Amino acid sequence: MTDQTKPFLAALQGKTHKHPPIWLMRQAGRYLEEYRAIRADVSGFLELCYTPELAIEVTMQPIRRFGFDAAILFSDILVLPDALGQNVTFVQGEGPKLEPVRSMADIQKLSANWIFQRLEPVYETVSGLSETLPKNTALIGFAGAPWTVATYMVEGGSSKDFATVKGWAFEKPDEFQVLIDLIVEGTAEYLSSQIENGAEAIQIFDSWAGVLPEDAFDRWVIAPTKKLISLIRAKHPETPIIGFPRGAGLHYPDYVRETGVTAVGLDTTMPTKWAADNLQNHLPVQGNLDPQVLLAGGKTLDDSVHRILENLSNGPFIFNLGHGIIKETPVSHVERLMDLVRGRV
Ligand code: CP3
Repeated sequence: MTDQTKPFLAALQGKTHKHPPIWLMRQAGRYLEEYRAIRADVSGFLELCYTPELAIEVTMQPIRRFGFDAAILFSDILVLPDALGQNVTFVQGEGPKLEPVRSMADIQKLSANWIFQRLEPVYETVSGLSETLPKNTALIGFAGAPWTVATYMVEGGSSKDFATVKGWAFEKPDEFQVLIDLIVEGTAEYLSSQIENGAEAIQIFDSWAGVLPEDAFDRWVIAPTKKLISLIRAKHPETPIIGFPRGAGLHYPDYVRETGVTAVGLDTTMPTKWAADNLQNHLPVQGNLDPQVLLAGGKTLDDSVHRILENLSNGPFIFNLGHGIIKETPVSHVERLMDLVRGRV
């Protein structure tokens, strides 16, 4: 059951607020000194994700500091490949490194059967958080979308051109489909368990939805997301699901219609007036301040926030960034953002 007294959940149910609820993608992390202090004491980033006591603490840090309307579970989209049996490491300053999956033989070494065991600490974090959060703060669970997770699994980390993963998807789609199906199955299990442990809403991050031509967008972004959502809804029909197909541009309306998401996250490039007229008239929207504008601060920040509020506050709306917060962002700029969105200045 959703709790109408939480503004974030009320917005997902279609309520319009004078001052919209707000949270920020990647709101826990290195821009906070209290995060850096904890991070310095663990051997690796995954250790932080798999230690419930620490993961709860870093999830709570931005809530205490800024009073956001929602907390997002502290974890990463790449715990999923780790739990499928792929070797995943995070090298400081270099980002994630994965032992690439590039053949049927590589796929066969993975298994969704390991999910439960490996991700048990994450579920513990979720249930600990649902007991710890202030009563008006909602708890968001999340995972990467199948396509985005596959890009990291196949490329072996971040990529500029996605040449290897696109090559596989375009040359041997039937093979690539096996990998996507495995990710869908594992992610459905992962997200359902988060919900069973207290996540009140789910966000699906498709950070690289914007790199595909249209046929491939339908097959590798829309179809697997639709399947994933149907598997989650079979068990948890009431839990709101936010889709974030970053960079999807003119595909946004199709994505919304076909996948059946409850709400949609707008990326930085999405014109807000257009989003109000073409998306928000059908479902709640979330977004989309450019993280680089938050970093810049000053008049640019004030003007951007006012424009977003003006265009999107007439319907169900959750204020957020259009992508994750940048680690150099001054805390004072986030405080200013809170004052602007809450109507205190
Ligand atoms: O506060 C929160 O938002 C919750 C935690 C969260 C993290 N990653 C923690 C993290 C969330 C929701 C994510 C999502 C995520 N992870 C995405 C989707 C959103 C997006 O940004 O596009 C992606 C693509 C990843 C994969 C990932 N994780 C990369 C590419 C990197 C390295 C780049 C970087 O920012 O360092 C990470 C590491 C990571 N995930 C960090 C954090 C706090 C930094 C690691 C550290 O502290 O050393």
